[in-house]
Amino acid sequence: MTFPHPLDARETTASRQGSEPSVAPVVVEARKLSLVYPTADKPVMALSEVDLTIAKGDFVSLIGPSGCGKTTLLRVIADLERPTSGHIAIEGMTPEQARLKRLYGYVFQAPALYPWRTVERNVMLPLEIMGLPKADRQQRAREQLERVGLVGFERKFPWQLSGGMQQRVSIARALALQPDLLLMDEPFGALDEITRDHLNLHLTQLWRATGKTCVFVTHSIAEAVFLSTRIVVMSPRPGRILDVIDCNSLPRERTLDLRESPEFAAIAHRVREGLKEGHSYDD
Ligand SMILES: Nc1ncnc2c1ncn2[C@@H]1O[C@H](COP(=O)(O)OP(=O)(O)OP(=O)(O)O)[C@@H](O)[C@H]1O
Ligand SMILES: [Mg+2]
Repeated sequence: MTFPHPLDARETTASRQGSEPSVAPVVVEARKLSLVYPTADKPVMALSEVDLTIAKGDFVSLIGPSGCGKTTLLRVIADLERPTSGHIAIEGMTPEQARLKRLYGYVFQAPALYPWRTVERNVMLPLEIMGLPKADRQQRAREQLERVGLVGFERKFPWQLSGGMQQRVSIARALALQPDLLLMDEPFGALDEITRDHLNLHLTQLWRATGKTCVFVTHSIAEAVFLSTRIVVMSPRPGRILDVIDCNSLPRERTLDLRESPEFAAIAHRVREGLKEGHSYDD
């Protein structure tokens, strides 16, 4: 299954004309972003001076050891946490404005579906909260369930689905909001490797088909390389950015065979080196 990516056409036209490709608009801009959690014993510094720019259509993975602040960074983008200092803008707005405009969809590590609602009614829930008429809610839910390959499961309850299918429901729920930005926190972390490969393939096709900007948290180097246009390697707490790795030496259209290629291995090696370097700071 192949889908054109909306940016491909623009870049091709620009290179044919011999001009520089135009720069994609900035979706997320973080400057010197720090966050300290006040806790009962001593404050926990979760993020330290993070600088990051994410452009429209990017697929950016955040990778780093447990507790390094990946979820915190995602939650700051989503306005679920306020930074202690520094600057963050989402499409030029504050995270609060972006949240109120429903610019992003959030996929949590656990699918967080309501067991008493059917699959379709889980996907429709945020649309109900938005006050969308029933017919529109149903149409959007149907479209998104089709996108994630769950036609025929609309009337099932979440507990009647596998873990991978539940995660696809939560991706459909996030997409139903028609967000510019999709934030995903280790959505496939709890799945077996074969299911994960399948969902990675599905996700990369979905990304190319929709042209969404994605920020994706993972612990898996292979998953990060397979999915991303750029990989952000973070240090152990307090989370700092150690390396930002461009994956554009890989084709935009990704197949699982790509994981056997030397380009893939070279990027994976650089991620691994970055993670190792971060760990040596603790010695
Ligand atoms: N609400 C909170 N109050 C206090 N400390 C917190 C809070 N949330 C996270 N932390 C601390 O901040 C640090 C970063 O946490 P965060 O959840 O962002 O890490 P992470 O990189 O997502 O880790 P993991 O890979 O295990 O999910 C951790 O040391 C954690 O204990
Ligand atoms: Mg986390």
